[in-house]
Amino acid sequence: MTAMSAPRKLFVTTALPYANGNFHIGHIMEYIQADIWVRTQRMLGHEVNFVGADDTHGAPIMIAAEKAGKTPQQFVADIAAGRKPYLDGFHIAFDNWHSTDAPENHALAQQIYLDLKAAGLIETRVIEQFFDPEKNMFLPDRFIKGECPKCHAKDQYGDNCEVCGAVYAPTDLIEPFSALSGAKPVLKSSEHFFFKLSDPRCVAFLEEWTQDGRLQPEVANKVKEWFTVRTNPDGTQSEGLGDWDISRDAPYFGIEIPGAPGKYFYVWLDAPVGYLASLKNLLEKRGQSYEAYIADPALEQFHFIGKDIVTFHTLFWPAMLKFSGRKTPDSVFVHGFLTVNNGEKMSKSRGTGLDPLKYLSLGMNPEWLRYYLAAKLSARNEDIDFNRDDFMARVNADLIGKFVNIASRAAGFIHKRFGGQLGAVSADGDALLSHLQDAAPGVAELLAERDYGKALREIMLLADRVNEYVDQNKPWELAKQEGMEARLQDVCSACIEAFRLLTILLKPVLPALAAQVEGFVQAAPFTFDSARSLLGAGHRIQEYKHLMQRVDVKQLDALFEPPAAPEPEATVPGGEALAPTITIDDFAKIDLRIALIVNCEAVEGSTKLLRLTLDVGEGRHRNVFSGIASAYQPADLIGKHTVMVANLAPRKMKFGVSEGMVLAASHGDEKAQPGIYVLNPWPGATPGMRVR
Ligand code: MSP
Ligand code: ZN
Repeated sequence: MTAMSAPRKLFVTTALPYANGNFHIGHIMEYIQADIWVRTQRMLGHEVNFVGADDTHGAPIMIAAEKAGKTPQQFVADIAAGRKPYLDGFHIAFDNWHSTDAPENHALAQQIYLDLKAAGLIETRVIEQFFDPEKNMFLPDRFIKGECPKCHAKDQYGDNCEVCGAVYAPTDLIEPFSALSGAKPVLKSSEHFFFKLSDPRCVAFLEEWTQDGRLQPEVANKVKEWFTVRTNPDGTQSEGLGDWDISRDAPYFGIEIPGAPGKYFYVWLDAPVGYLASLKNLLEKRGQSYEAYIADPALEQFHFIGKDIVTFHTLFWPAMLKFSGRKTPDSVFVHGFLTVNNGEKMSKSRGTGLDPLKYLSLGMNPEWLRYYLAAKLSARNEDIDFNRDDFMARVNADLIGKFVNIASRAAGFIHKRFGGQLGAVSADGDALLSHLQDAAPGVAELLAERDYGKALREIMLLADRVNEYVDQNKPWELAKQEGMEARLQDVCSACIEAFRLLTILLKPVLPALAAQVEGFVQAAPFTFDSARSLLGAGHRIQEYKHLMQRVDVKQLDALFEPPAAPEPEATVPGGEALAPTITIDDFAKIDLRIALIVNCEAVEGSTKLLRLTLDVGEGRHRNVFSGIASAYQPADLIGKHTVMVANLAPRKMKFGVSEGMVLAASHGDEKAQPGIYVLNPWPGATPGMRVR
């Protein structure tokens, strides 16, 4: 409401989502939170650039792309292509959506690195890491599995045990194996690049930057711990900030480190640089100078993020910016996690229970969700829950019942009885409107402080006042009384004015509804300053069209109904009906054994067969022919374990005797679904073990 002061210049981002999946409701919550803030700032007259981007780099995305049979570039482009329906659908008004793999980001990340190096804050060290000899790559902790050294649970990740909770280094695992190939990883040393966060300059800067009041108090307190103790990968604790390993070896989907062939920036080095890259891309598309914009001392920079990525944004990122001679963020706004229906854990495989696109496709109003989430959000870092009953109650009782209904109760009379023209409002109505106008700056301030829940509670209290006024004056009765025409117009005009004032306050949360109301009351786009004045007597409004439906319980039922499982009778598994039932004794007749493929070669004169030399732990080798030449190169199979039928009668074939059969999977309809897949036991099985 401060029309006098100069507009602020704000650069705002949300966290950059990994480009390995579609948005889930947690992402949408973060975008709605940031979008409401950006719209609030704009309505206060400030200039905002609000940008996002896909976080495209790193080993998990590289591996997911390989699994999908795509290049990483194609993989992330396909993800990016799916973003728009979510953002448009929930009215999230990013000015730009970019990618951390874009040229701007390559150039900026490399320059920031060179600047840090020039500042003497980059150091190289040789470290030992697990290496997958089959995939020819260093393995990230997540891709090393093995037996927990503490509780001996099998199949645990390289960084911690999901059974007993122990934290350890991948090298502590018993019988480690690569989750990518199953191979036994070997220790290999490699030169890594470190950002020296332990440098006294960094420590001094970060202690000041994190504790000077710019961060939420609960976040600043948490961050403080990082300066005194730190947990090492092996679970032990050390003093103070540790140096940060910022390099990864090829093959890696990322940005090359200048002057270090085969070395790439760890994804978290270039990810936040993506904020700047997206901004640069936006400004240059508009023909503006990025350098000039970012050099303006008046520019303020804010990042909305979740509580899981605080260290990256309050330690690494500000230090990178500071010591590369750049502007540091003014603040980082941390939110908690969203859960659905009483803390039900977000699960990738089962979905979150609340699929944002399904929500939209069911015709559910995106502004219901914006309103509901805003009502639950505060400026603090705390978790919130989406609860279906609570959602329906808040939307139907508050948003529709208290707010939207004000317009529907008054507009018809203005239109039918007074040709759409507002009349003079008398003292009681004026008092009500003054109360609303006086309260407006406080509400705008709550929104600007991200205290959305409190702002909406204030707005609903104001709506209660308006509804009391309506109930006292009962326009539907005035309409039936002789000689009360003027009073009817007076009361209904006050209602329309009040409705307009409430809409102004709700506009950051309900932008589409506010746009409809701007049309309905025939007004220019609302800013918070619009609340200083009224439409006034004689102003004409449009005919009222219904603004918003109520939530229907059937929509919620449909939203949370699990996706239909395929009809069991209708599908034939693998394109082939199941064979008749057998007994366990029938099965026991088949002797299945683990076999090591000692050798494998093409069979001259056959395009179908490969000749396998198998070790089944009998002290001799077996010769087996297998019709898998279309699917495997001999070299693919040598050294691998598989499963064979070891008691099949030997069979004389054109090329020699086959002493058994190797197991492989294929679809019943080979033409429709080609492909043969040789069975490969879990690592640890050795030749001769029986499969039962
Ligand atoms: N790619 C990193 C961020 C890089 S920023 C330079 C990342 N991506 S993410 O896709 O895992 O998360 C993106 C954002 O969504 C983060 O701020 C994260 O906290 C937030 N959320 C992820 N799950 C969430 C909920 N269940 N609830 C609320 N926010 C959640 O981290
Ligand atoms: Zn364990």
